[in-house]
Amino acid sequence: MKGWFFIMNEKVKDLLQQQVNKELYSAYLYLDMSNYYISKNLDGFAHWFKLQAQEEFDHAMLITQYLQNSDIEVILGAIDAPDASYDDIKKPLTMALEHEKYVTSLINDIYSEAQADKDYRTSQFLDWFIAEQAEEEATAQELIGRFELFGEDSKGLYLLDKELGAREHEEPSLEL
Ligand code: FEO
Repeated sequence: MKGWFFIMNEKVKDLLQQQVNKELYSAYLYLDMSNYYISKNLDGFAHWFKLQAQEEFDHAMLITQYLQNSDIEVILGAIDAPDASYDDIKKPLTMALEHEKYVTSLINDIYSEAQADKDYRTSQFLDWFIAEQAEEEATAQELIGRFELFGEDSKGLYLLDKELGAREHEEPSLEL
């Protein structure tokens, strides 16, 4: 749907444009982690992170669609290369949690700007992202916990890898 005919505050618009880039960077980062796990023969972990990358791409598409619905041209910037180095197979899990906390702070910043501008339409759109971020942080935390419980011995790691390999892609529950 296009043509909602409302004037979005420049700052909110800029932050949403930047968030498209941040979500695409998140996809890049998780794809990098997926590639790392492939190199470690942990195909289930690799699969899990590949789907995580796909989710991030979905997030970027949702924000793109929201901007386009608001008649705003989406300008794409360069995506940074992930400059992560992983000391061990637990490292991507802790980095993923840190990254999600960072993304939560970005979403919160956009929400604050929208609220300050009484842009309740954008606030309502971002409600979904706020709930999603809470879920993403919880999932990342849970994965670390499961790794600490089962990932330290080879049989437990094998089973955890198998379990993560069964993850399926879920379409975002938000429709625009
Ligand atoms: Fe799109 Fe994981 O934040």
